[in-house]
Amino acid sequence: MDETFWALCAALSLATISITGVSGQTQLADETTLETATSTATPTIPRLPLAIHYEALCPDSMYFIRRRLYDALLDNDWWSRTELKLYPFGKAAFYNNTEMGELQVFCQHGDEECELNALHVCVLEHLELRQAFDLIYCMLRTFGNSIDGCANHLRLNVTAAKQCKHSRKTPDILLPYGKETLALELSFVPSIVIDNHFAAYEQSSIRYNFEAHFCRQYERKFQIKLPSCG
Ligand SMILES: *[C@@H]1O[C@H](CO)[C@@H](O)[C@H](O)[C@H]1NC(C)=O
Ligand SMILES: *[C@@H]1O[C@H](CO)[C@@H](O)[C@H](O)[C@H]1NC(C)=O
Repeated sequence: MDETFWALCAALSLATISITGVSGQTQLADETTLETATSTATPTIPRLPLAIHYEALCPDSMYFIRRRLYDALLDNDWWSRTELKLYPFGKAAFYNNTEMGELQVFCQHGDEECELNALHVCVLEHLELRQAFDLIYCMLRTFGNSIDGCANHLRLNVTAAKQCKHSRKTPDILLPYGKETLALELSFVPSIVIDNHFAAYEQSSIRYNFEAHFCRQYERKFQIKLPSCG
């Protein structure tokens, strides 16, 4: 595998993304061009699956996504090397309220967090992943999770995401994500799953040395040393 070739393609994608960032109007058209360019130039760029289980109001989650994950994926040009999945659920739990005949959900930081987690799911479901990631990164800057301020700043249309949140019940929105998080029986938030393997006892090391773990797993799986891996 020729590393120079991949590095060049990654640099090209980054340039296109920053151009689209400046002109929000042409975003959709440019996204399409980017997709096409990437798929014809690099048909088999290997992506390492990466799942982040987090909570909207958990300071450790906010810190990890804003200070570790975002920098690792974007500063290192690893976005194109990653199959990222975000699970805004954490240590929440479902409860069948038989009296009311409906499913309820309880979140670690209260009802407000359930509502915000559900809003994050709606963002993930209604925006292209890179845009959703940028928006969530911005929202996690404060406990207020200001979707309107962030959407304005990033020039994203969040009408559909907000409709999703208003038109559906919070437990129903969270259910598919919660099922996957609950299956891990995680004890800490955020929990990071690399290559579909949940290393329960290495979580602290993965949180604090995320880049080293990503490098190691990437090389182990694809026999490629990423450019910024020492
Ligand atoms: C709630 O009840 C439904 C239907 O009886 C069942 O399929 C589901 O697993 C239950 N969920 C929980 C979280 O107990
Ligand atoms: C934003 O999205 C909504 C729903 O998807 C659409 O109806 C509306 O026209 C869009 N607004 C702009 C300014 O593009």
